[in-house]
Amino acid sequence: EKDGHDWFMRKEIFEQPRAVADSLLGRRSQSGLLQLDEMRLSDDEIRDIDKIIIIACGTSFYAGMVAKYAIEHWTRIPVEVELASEFRYRDPILDYSTLVVAISQSGETADTLQAIRHARTQRSKVLAICNTNGSTIPRESDAVIYTHAGPEIGVASTKGFLTQLVACYLLALYVAQVKGTRYGDEVDEVMAQLEAIPEQIETVLAGAQQIYDLAAEHVDTRSVLFLGRHAGYPVALEGALKLKELAYIHAEGFAAGELKHGPIALVEPGLPILCVVPPRGRDQLHEKMISGIQEVRARGARTICLAEEGDTKIEPYADVLIRLPRVPVLLQPLVATVPLQLFACELATVMGHDVDQPRNLAKSVTVE
Ligand code: F6R
Repeated sequence: EKDGHDWFMRKEIFEQPRAVADSLLGRRSQSGLLQLDEMRLSDDEIRDIDKIIIIACGTSFYAGMVAKYAIEHWTRIPVEVELASEFRYRDPILDYSTLVVAISQSGETADTLQAIRHARTQRSKVLAICNTNGSTIPRESDAVIYTHAGPEIGVASTKGFLTQLVACYLLALYVAQVKGTRYGDEVDEVMAQLEAIPEQIETVLAGAQQIYDLAAEHVDTRSVLFLGRHAGYPVALEGALKLKELAYIHAEGFAAGELKHGPIALVEPGLPILCVVPPRGRDQLHEKMISGIQEVRARGARTICLAEEGDTKIEPYADVLIRLPRVPVLLQPLVATVPLQLFACELATVMGHDVDQPRNLAKSVTVE
């Protein structure tokens, strides 16, 4: 049942090309327009939305952070992302023109469920992004986008996360199409880029051995930092979470621009820092990231850089270079997360931990 893999988690990491492809399947009509089966919000209701609040926990929360970049870019609707456990207890401002998006792989997370129940008492529409058909969160929502990853058994979310990202991109493009924003015209182009992702994930998986060797070098490591910017920032947080929960190592993710505001004090010779380097583009993201990497390297950090094919500027600053396929910055989390999942899974394995049942954790957290 693990298809020859030692863990469900590893099997699920390797299933991601298929999971992402399934998540994209049947989303376009003959005319090329996006269609979401269980959207159940009318075009008028969508046009009325003036604010989106995304609520989720853990890895699903990081998917929400990525979603914010995509939704705001393509729809121009302001998006807030909040931890479900915080949202519920702070008297949030909600009304009928607020769309609340709840992201939950299991559909049973108690904090997220309580948050949507509260939102509905305030007359907000709730859309669930969920992997589990017929679970409580989608049942109690006005609309749902199912992620179609197939059952996720490993406690650490992997294919659940990647397909949540796909669902978030689809939601953003769908709203852009309905609202007729300028970016609605990009639907075709972005869908083609998304459809190329499964093969690009295959390429990353084909390089797994490099990541395994890297993990083996880090068995005695006590602390690892992760840096990212823009859509790479939530990827850094996700990489750190995977390492904490599986390898029980202290790990922290930072927005690279925040380094100089405090965290750089943590850097000491030999500290491994995994850096998610944004694709080269017209903005200054790439150069800003490189200068952050230079800063930590000058202080003796060991820089392990994830950077796109063809990026030669990073080479002098990378102690280890892991190549990623070339994709637009908004979609980069779909490829950049995969090496970090492999790293955590392998490091936990060589440390002798039970990857599918990490200590103190449960697959679905049904208590608040
Ligand atoms: C981390 C992980 C958790 C879940 C979180 C939310 O690998 O799996 O952080 O993401 O408990 O769970 P769902 O998405 O089921 O609401």
